[in-house]
Amino acid sequence: MSPAAADQSADPAAELAVLAAEIAAHAARYYRDDAPTISDAEYDALVRRNAELEAAHPDLVRGDSPSIRVGSAPATGFGKVVHSRPMLSLDNAFADAEVVEFVARVRRFLRIGEDNPIILTAEPKIDGLSVSLMYRDGVLVTAATRGDGTTGEDVTRNVATVADVPQSLPPGAPAVIDVRGEIYMAKADFVALNAAQTCAGGRTFANPRNAAAGSLRQLDVAVTRARPLRFLAHGWGEISDLPAESQAGVMAVLAEWGFPVSDRLTRCSTIDEALAAYRGIETDRAALPFDIDGVVYKVDRLDLQARLGEVARSPRWALAHKFPAERATTLLLAIDIQVGRTGQLTPVARLEPVGVGGVIVTNATLHNEDEIARKDVRIGDTVELQRAGDVIPQILGPILDGSVRGEPYVFPHVCPACGSLAVREAGEVARRCTGGLICPAQRIERLRHFVGRRAFDIEGLGAERIELFVGEGMIVTPADIFRLGDHREALVARRGFEAVSVDKLLAAIADRRTMTLDRFLFALGIRHVGEIVARDLARTFVTYVAFSERVEAALAVQATAAEPDDERARARSAAALAAVFAVGGVGPEIAASITDFFAEAHNRAVVDDLRREVTVADFAIATRQSQVTGKTVVFTGTLETMSRDEARAQAERLGARVAASVSARTDLVVAGPGAGSKAVKAAALGIEVIDEPAWCAIVAAA
Ligand code: IVH
Repeated sequence: MSPAAADQSADPAAELAVLAAEIAAHAARYYRDDAPTISDAEYDALVRRNAELEAAHPDLVRGDSPSIRVGSAPATGFGKVVHSRPMLSLDNAFADAEVVEFVARVRRFLRIGEDNPIILTAEPKIDGLSVSLMYRDGVLVTAATRGDGTTGEDVTRNVATVADVPQSLPPGAPAVIDVRGEIYMAKADFVALNAAQTCAGGRTFANPRNAAAGSLRQLDVAVTRARPLRFLAHGWGEISDLPAESQAGVMAVLAEWGFPVSDRLTRCSTIDEALAAYRGIETDRAALPFDIDGVVYKVDRLDLQARLGEVARSPRWALAHKFPAERATTLLLAIDIQVGRTGQLTPVARLEPVGVGGVIVTNATLHNEDEIARKDVRIGDTVELQRAGDVIPQILGPILDGSVRGEPYVFPHVCPACGSLAVREAGEVARRCTGGLICPAQRIERLRHFVGRRAFDIEGLGAERIELFVGEGMIVTPADIFRLGDHREALVARRGFEAVSVDKLLAAIADRRTMTLDRFLFALGIRHVGEIVARDLARTFVTYVAFSERVEAALAVQATAAEPDDERARARSAAALAAVFAVGGVGPEIAASITDFFAEAHNRAVVDDLRREVTVADFAIATRQSQVTGKTVVFTGTLETMSRDEARAQAERLGARVAASVSARTDLVVAGPGAGSKAVKAAALGIEVIDEPAWCAIVAAA
């Protein structure tokens, strides 16, 4: 955003509201969950935009503005610690001119003229997790994370495992001192940890900072102890007795007391010296053992720091001069499409290897179809990429130098893993493969769903065994489960698989050779066909034959519809499909999804094969005649004597249909305490609303 455009916004109040919500969500993912979804540079850009708009429209600054809040509220699971002095944040600068302005601001505030030097310290801004270490009478009593700046998490037991942190201070140290600094993980240790985690099947971390945060904030201290965490002090909070008169002086004393402090801290008497220190640290950045994202300048004299004080969330006496995100250009060799376990197609850029910030990059994410179109990146382009502290680099866009380019990239509409149609639903960014049952990328996930408790519910066939059997080629599609008996000898011959347990498994499978229509449909894993929709379909069609006749009718309608890639045409055809099904809970989206599924010859083949192994039993709930037979019931609020599932089962036994939301078609609403808008809506529509005891009476009377 250029400065001239900084204050321009069609609707600044609305934009500020969106920014507040977005920044809070990203801050929570970063600080609280240790799982950011955008790069630091992108986050900084949002914060800057917020600051620019607020500067241009001071009257619009919100109570929940990110410029007032720091970090994110503490996660649960840890005790809380109220910091005796708030843990502040730092103002950011990106350009040299902003550093010049910072010093000018300090001079104006203190009324110190150009003839008097203002000494600044300069030191690396380490990318870790800030902590406060409270020592009383020379003993570490509490360690806390920053949290929201006022209240953090109590991580005393975790910090006690970090060897860099002194447990006690030498005689002569102040009675009360709150040492502040960063817990971090060295780059080499981070790489080794991720490798070990991958081997052990554990989670890996996006970057050293997340690894440090994730390792420190462990309720099980033994996990923290096993992680290579380090500490570097960079300041202090409450202190009963200052041991020196300058920032650099106190840091030297902290080093004497046993705290690791930066060996790159220098004192600079001019802006030029400060900027030279910045460049020096930037040059050495890749060689440093830990990640840094800038340089912090602090006014060295502590009396001046005290006079300067703080504004909103950051001290007036300090500034973070951030490094630009690391960028490079290279050739885009190809765009590969990866298919995730749930069928989502993700484009990955294959690049001519290039060094970015000391790392050789060969792949970068392109996120999704829209992202490629928006950036208009084409195979053969020279592209600019950025590695902003994250491990997965991002493509910023093509470098257009006038040379001849390839054709615009066309995102595939078929799944590269199985050849099925890949569709994109209205309002979704992701394109998904519709070949769920045959797609190798989704095989394991689909089979797990198929045997799950609420689907075929095959005892003894858990995720591990599914993976094993798929790995050995014994199971490819669900029908193969029912042919596992053919492999009995091979299974029994396996080490660690006894004949009894093989036979038990085969018996459990045999037990499921008859399956009711509702569970059968649910087990197929058709997108949007969950348990409730499956039951609605089964209740309406009763037999598989009737259901499949309706599917054929839908396929005929779909075949006459216009290009399915035209979004409006697709929506229109989806509405027509919903009319074909004519089932209460099946709207256009679900109808289109069912039709897409059966439009795939592979899927039909898999279902037909399965039906040769399994008998689909007609759907019949032994219904009892009652006051609610044939009616539509909605449950809302808290039920006190039963679960929602039980209430649903009761209603269905009485021949009622249970809906999730209140509409004109609802006949009865059962409202427990805390029922909100649904009960209000029911009243507005003149629908009968009863309480739980009244419902129990209906059940008892049937
Ligand atoms: S001084 C008032 N010095 O950066 C805050 N902070 O973005 C004084 N950080 O919360 C902080 N390296 O956790 C300071 N050399 C350094 C630092 C540093 C990293 C962190 C710190 C702070 C955050 C602000």
